[in-house]
Formats: sequence, C-alpha cells, structure tokens
Amino acid sequence: MFSTVGRPVPRKEGREKVTGESKYVDDLCFPGMLHGATVRSPVPRGRIRNIEFPAGLPWNEFTIVMAKDIPGDNCVPLIVDDQPYLASEYVNHPEEPVVLLAHPAKYLVEKARNTVRLDIEPLPAIFSIEDSLAKKQIIWGDDNVLKSFLVEKGDIDAAFAEAVHIVEGEYRTGAQEQLYIETNGVIATANPEEGITIWGSMQCPFYIHKALLKAFPLAPEKVRVIQMETGGGFGGKEEYPSMLAGHAALLAWKSGRPVKMIYDRAEDMLATTKRHPSRTRIRSAVSRDGKLLGIDIEFIIDGGAYATLSSVVLSRGTIHAAGPYLCPNVRIRSQAVATNAPPHGAFRGFGAPQSIFALERHLNTVARTIHLTPDEFRRRNFLRRGDATATGQVIHESLNLEALLDRALDLAGYHAKVKAFAAGNPKSKIKRGIGFATFMHGAGFTGSGERYLQSVAGVEATPEGRVRILVSSTEIGQGTNTMLSQIAAEALGIDYDDVEIQRPDTSQVPNSGPTVASRTCMVVGKLVESAAIGLKQTLVKAGLLLEKYSRPQFAGACARYIAQFGPLKSYSQYQAPPGIYWDDDAYRGDAYGAFAWAVYVAEVAVDTTTFEISVNDFVALQEVGRVIHPVLAAGQIEGGVAQGIGYAIFEKVVWQNGRMVNGQMTNYIMPTSVDVPSIRVYFEETPYEYGPLGAKGIGELPIDGPAPAVLNAIENALGLAVNEIPLLPEMLMEEAGVG
Ligand code: MOS
Repeated sequence: MFSTVGRPVPRKEGREKVTGESKYVDDLCFPGMLHGATVRSPVPRGRIRNIEFPAGLPWNEFTIVMAKDIPGDNCVPLIVDDQPYLASEYVNHPEEPVVLLAHPAKYLVEKARNTVRLDIEPLPAIFSIEDSLAKKQIIWGDDNVLKSFLVEKGDIDAAFAEAVHIVEGEYRTGAQEQLYIETNGVIATANPEEGITIWGSMQCPFYIHKALLKAFPLAPEKVRVIQMETGGGFGGKEEYPSMLAGHAALLAWKSGRPVKMIYDRAEDMLATTKRHPSRTRIRSAVSRDGKLLGIDIEFIIDGGAYATLSSVVLSRGTIHAAGPYLCPNVRIRSQAVATNAPPHGAFRGFGAPQSIFALERHLNTVARTIHLTPDEFRRRNFLRRGDATATGQVIHESLNLEALLDRALDLAGYHAKVKAFAAGNPKSKIKRGIGFATFMHGAGFTGSGERYLQSVAGVEATPEGRVRILVSSTEIGQGTNTMLSQIAAEALGIDYDDVEIQRPDTSQVPNSGPTVASRTCMVVGKLVESAAIGLKQTLVKAGLLLEKYSRPQFAGACARYIAQFGPLKSYSQYQAPPGIYWDDDAYRGDAYGAFAWAVYVAEVAVDTTTFEISVNDFVALQEVGRVIHPVLAAGQIEGGVAQGIGYAIFEKVVWQNGRMVNGQMTNYIMPTSVDVPSIRVYFEETPYEYGPLGAKGIGELPIDGPAPAVLNAIENALGLAVNEIPLLPEMLMEEAGVG
C-alpha cells in the first residue's frame, strides 16, 4: 500500500553518525576562538555584595562579562520574563550564573572560574514543596505560586456524598536528569555589524533566536541559529540552550572573537534543568459496583527558582492526571510552586509521568480496597468512544481500551503469572510480581498551543527532481529526518533516497515550531505532507505534470518549472483539525488533537535480603496511529521504557540545600543494558484522520507507564504499597520494615 512508510529504511543521518563524519558543536573550531566558562552562585539565595578577581591570574587577558554588560534586556524570554541571563543583585538558586569568562586557553578559563570570588550575603531559602506551600519564605511573586490550574467536571461533593468507598493516597516523584549523551554546548560569533550566529546542540532553534533578540538590540535577520548534530535532548535542550547561547554571544560580543562554551557532565547535571519533582494527593469516590463516581486530585510540582516552562509542564500534567477513565465528577487543582533549586524544566513526558504515576498507583489501591483485581476495576471505568475526558474532550476516534488491556495482559502471560507468583515458594527469598499501567498521552502542544504557534513547514525541489524538506524541527536521535523524509516521499510518490533535509538554520528554514511535545510527526509531519502535495499541485497546475507520473517525469517537470519560474518551493501552515476547540479561560475543551493509548506490563523480582529490584520482563503495547518507521518507533518505545525504569528504581537526584550533590554518572545511577530486560514492543495502528498517513505522536508516551507498572508489580510481589519514586533498595527495605 505504501512505498516507504511502514518500512525500516536506513536513517538519513545514520551513515555520518557511525562513520564519525557527523559534526557536533565541539567538533568545530574557529580561528581565534575563545573558550567560555560560567561562574555560578555557591549559595541558594542571597544578595551579591561584591565580585572579586584575586591576584595571580592574568585577568587583563580575559574577557569578563557581568549583568551590566548585557546590551539589551537581562532576561531569557520564555513564558514569564523572570529569569536573568546573569544575576545582578540577587541570586535565587545554587549554580545561578553570575559572571562569564573567556580566554584562548581552556585550562586557564577553568582555573579562573574557580578563582573568581563571589561575596554573597546569604538569605533564607526554601527547598521543598511543603515549605513553598507554607510560604515559609516568599521567594517568587506574592505567594510562591508560579502557576495554578483548576479542572472541574460535574459535582465533586455530590459524588463523595453518594460514594460507598472513599480511597485516599499521596504519591511522590523525584527529579530526573535527562542524561543525553552529548552535553549542552554552543559556539557564538557576535558583533553589532554582522549580528550573531550560533552553532549548537539544541531542540528549538527559534527559541534561541527569540531569546537572543531580547539580550541584543538587533534586527531578527541579524540573528542566525544553526543546529549542529545533536546527541540527545529529551526536553533538556528545549529551554536551556537559550541561556547558554546568550552567554556565549555575550562573551563573543564583548571580545569580538568566536566563543565556544561546552559544559562538562558535572556542570550539565548541576546547572541545567531536570524533571519537576511532584506531590499528588488523590481522593476517589467509588460506587458499590466499582464505578468511579468522583476523583479529586491535588497535583503540585516543584518549579525551582524561576517560572521557565513550569506552567506548561503543569498544564500537561494536570490534563493527564485523570487518565483514560470515564469519571462523571472530577476536580483537579494543580500548582507549580517556587523553591530555591535551579529551575526544573522540560523532560520527556512533560508533567504527565508524574500525575500518571500517582493515578495508576492510586487505582491499584482502590481495586484492592473494593476487592476487585486491578484489571477488572480499570475495565469497569475505561473511556470509550463518545465519552468525555476530564476537560470535556469527547473521544471521536475508535477506542477499545479493554481489548488493548486484554492483548497486553495476554502477551505478558499476566493471569498465569499472577497465579504462579501467588502460589510461589514461601521460603524463597526472591519474591516475584507482575503489574501494569494503562495510560494515554496527548500529542502536540496542550490546549490552544498549536493554534498560537502557527507552525510552517516547507519543501523545495531541485532541477534534478530531488526534494529538500525545510523545517526547524531537529533530529536529536529520535528519527525526525528519516520519518519526515518518508512522509514527503510518500506524498510525492518519489524515492526515499530522493528526499533530503535542510539543516535547521533559522536563516534557511521556516519556523515549524519547537521539537517537543510529541508534535514532530503528527503536527510537523502533516505540514510536510501538505507542503509536498502543494508542490505536486503547483507542477500539475503549471501543466508540467499529470496527476499520475513516473520518477523521470517528476524530475523533468521540476527542471522545466525552475527554468521557467525560478525556485520551486511550497509551504504549509498549521490549521487546527475540524472540531478541535480549547477554551483557555475555562481551561476546558479539546486539550490535544489526538491521544496515543497504551498498556505496559512489568514483571519484577525482589531479593528480600538485599531488596534489589530487577525488572525481568516488560511488555509495551500501544496504539499510536500509523507507524511510519517500525524500527525507529520501536526504538523510541524501548528508550522511553528504559528511561522510565530508571525513573522508577535507579535515578535519584540527591539534594542538599537546592543543589544536586551526586552530579556524576558514578553515583547518579542510570540503568544500562544489564539493568533492563529486553523490552517487548507491540503496536496497534488505528490511523488518525488528521495525522500524516494516519500517524499520531510517540516520543513522550513510553515514559509515562513504566514507573507505575513497576511499582504495581512490586506491590504484587511483596504485598507492599509504595507510592514514591525513585524507589531504591534501601528505601524499599525501610518500607518493608527490615534493617
Ligand atoms: Mo519536550 S519534554 O516537550 O522537549
């Protein structure tokens, strides 16, 4: 049916990556280039009294930038303009940038960074959601609240009045570090005449473009941002590169030389964004026959010291908090609160992993309380086609979560294992268990986000009949280049090999939006598809091509068109699918164009001597619309599951006064291939009418399910309900009352 879609064609940039030909930013070296470094606040909160440059270093050889050297506004623009590029009077979190240094010799910059003395008068600081809510110190606005939302459906009080069972619980999730292979890095050239050029590792070239225009008095066309090959992002290169690019540009502006700034792993872990820690309280009202009557959720995330993206992370987490269940009465109250930690930010899942963890743990407790199995209880409450979500979004697509659950449990051998594990040898020190989570993930920006973005994608043909895709969407390892090329090839009826991708460069590509929010395939892919169809129609209308054509006919038509009329380009701009409407004021409506749906099943073994947890089997079944590239899609799922297992039982950020104190990969433990089982990935494909060839989003979904599935399996193994992650062996031992 399709010529390239659905087939495992080679990755577009695969050959360059494996041969080492690919250029990452640290591979670039410019004549006269300086190395930049950042002097950061040693305290969580305080007033800067003085900045000293102790004798012993040739300070006159250094370029030194402080807040007063910023030619424009000292503010990294995002949603609320509260975060400075450089602290001027006050610092609000550990590792906050205060001074920038550059020098031709890298080792001297490092030495200088450690020599500069920041004299800061400490101010009282707060480090927990509880202290922030209690307003122990006011550190942001009037009340520490960066953002809040309220979702209301039906009558929550009436639901509790008629409930037979009421179940309550509290659920906590920790921070998580993105741990992309390549750390954050950029090179900048900058001067008032030629403007600024940035080469860097990033997800969102146009975010950086916008951020630089704030700090420098330049016309938009004087700022150029070029994405180099990028070794992973996971959300960690969504907002932070704007800060880093600004820093490098400030040093370049002052020195008149190119400036390279590459973070080492320690700086990247300590200073850049992580996943928001969260606390969720859920109270649910259930009828005698196991129907959810009402659910009352309080969802709080720790935003850190500045607002950055917390409001939108909170929004996605809020909307996913009630899960894929039908509940007539819902109240979700959510807040992002400030603490004196470095700002938490975008990380794959973007708020949803936190609230989904809480709900999927809670539902297991409810099931146990009312003496139903976890699967039977969920079965009685699944959303079906025609039902409305918590925000009133009616599901119009075909949806059969019961069938999805049945298939996943079948693939995992769930029922047989539940029996076998229950009957297992009581003397064995190894306890085995199996658990699952059912969940959904919305693709694209939340609410009216896509309508505000108004993304544009383009395609351009060469006289040889090759087609180049013009988007600002970045390849960060997930397969964007390949997937978009497949979509364009399919739409034009040409070979996959005849499609290429323009490197994202703000001077060359339209703004197709940021590479985030599981939007690249569904939203940008759709724009590429329609731009490609537009290109074909241009040739047909010009009388150069018939509706049906061969490869040489297409090339001939392109050549003739270009000879006659000049460049052959076609653009397409986002339009909301019909019937999709979100009300920003009421915070109600169609939150996403489409959801992907999933059931994940985890099997664990717990050693009751050491409390080591091993995940021995994992089934990931999802409905994501059309699968464009089966290998890359499965790779997305496997990576997300591994990252989700890390989130659940390995990756613990240890905080001390707002600072991460285990910022090395030797003691912040991420799972390796020996720590994760072979992940069994299955897709169901229900084509989505408004996605390219029926595709929806896939990137974030797989990190939502593993943590609750693993903790549900641990509950099954030990009969112990633990509601906090990461769950390390020592914590589990304590929960079990041992030691
Ligand atoms: Mo993403 S976590 O929306 O970069």
